[in-house]
Amino acid sequence: MPVTRKISFIGGGKITEILIANMTARAVVDPALITVSNPGKARLEDLHKRFGVNKASSNGDAAASGDIIFVCVRSEIASAVAEELGGMDFSGKTVVTISAGVPMKLYREKLKNASVVRVMPNPPSKIGYGAIAVSFDDRIDGKAREDVMEIFSSMGKCFVLPEEKINILTSITCPAPVFAFCSAIIQSSVLLGIDHATSEDLVFHTIQGCLKEWEHNPGQMAKLLTETSTPGGISVQQLFSLDKGGFGGVIKQTYVDGWAKSKEFGDRILKSLD
Ligand SMILES: NC(=O)c1ccc[n+]([C@@H]2O[C@H](COP(=O)([O-])OP(=O)(O)OC[C@H]3O[C@@H](n4cnc5c(N)ncnc54)[C@H](OP(=O)(O)O)[C@@H]3O)[C@@H](O)[C@H]2O)c1
Repeated sequence: MPVTRKISFIGGGKITEILIANMTARAVVDPALITVSNPGKARLEDLHKRFGVNKASSNGDAAASGDIIFVCVRSEIASAVAEELGGMDFSGKTVVTISAGVPMKLYREKLKNASVVRVMPNPPSKIGYGAIAVSFDDRIDGKAREDVMEIFSSMGKCFVLPEEKINILTSITCPAPVFAFCSAIIQSSVLLGIDHATSEDLVFHTIQGCLKEWEHNPGQMAKLLTETSTPGGISVQQLFSLDKGGFGGVIKQTYVDGWAKSKEFGDRILKSLD
């Protein structure tokens, strides 16, 4: 069902473009219902020309014209935007915060009567394969919840969870460590003498095959690992090498560090609200 309420974006950067491109390409929202505000006017003109969205003259103008308002500014700018919009009444409006680490409390406290949703779409959302974390505050009504889920379900799988868990998903859904792991396997193939192009193709198909097997055996990761580990064979030797190199600990530390970084942004803002 298409969303028929008016949508505004505050900030017209990369994630705004991803969201607009998805919403319009999948006909979830008519571009005539979308308004964007952005300090750089050339960028605003570009979004207007490419997607047919409306240009707002200010953040206040965008917020006033929208029923669902996406705040898509960098995390360090979120407090200034909340202050700027502080005088408006947001009754009946839904504020969707996308900025990494920014807590809903910022908008709940600064924007009068706003109901707030916090969403963290990861980069593959732009091709419809996102893992998307969504948190609703208690003030959200059924219709707003439905519209937000409609918009983000078109971009991948949504995981609805309490806000205190969202920094965990922000870390776990980052593609960079996954690409780094894939890249290391490609480099291993090259090191052993396979050319770059073949190595990349080989690793892609290996990983794709593993994902497909996992898809056919949901919740069975331990079984898959056992089945592919012939006693005394090559795979168990490889797993032993990973153990010796501290692989499990390094991976866990990587995600704990990502979680801490995401939490750091939020803690700074929460402290400023006390
Ligand atoms: N990119 C992603 O895939 C992704 C995914 C999930 C979450 N996020 C989060 O979304 C946030 C934005 O990321 P991004 O990648 O879209 O960053 P970005 O490309 O730098 O976009 C930020 C936009 O905000 C505009 N802006 C700056 N100050 C503003 C203000 N006072 N009022 C209104 N707009 C203002 C900037 O305009 P000027 O350039 O003209 O200054 C820019 O167009 C970040 O917190 C990020 O963590 C991003």
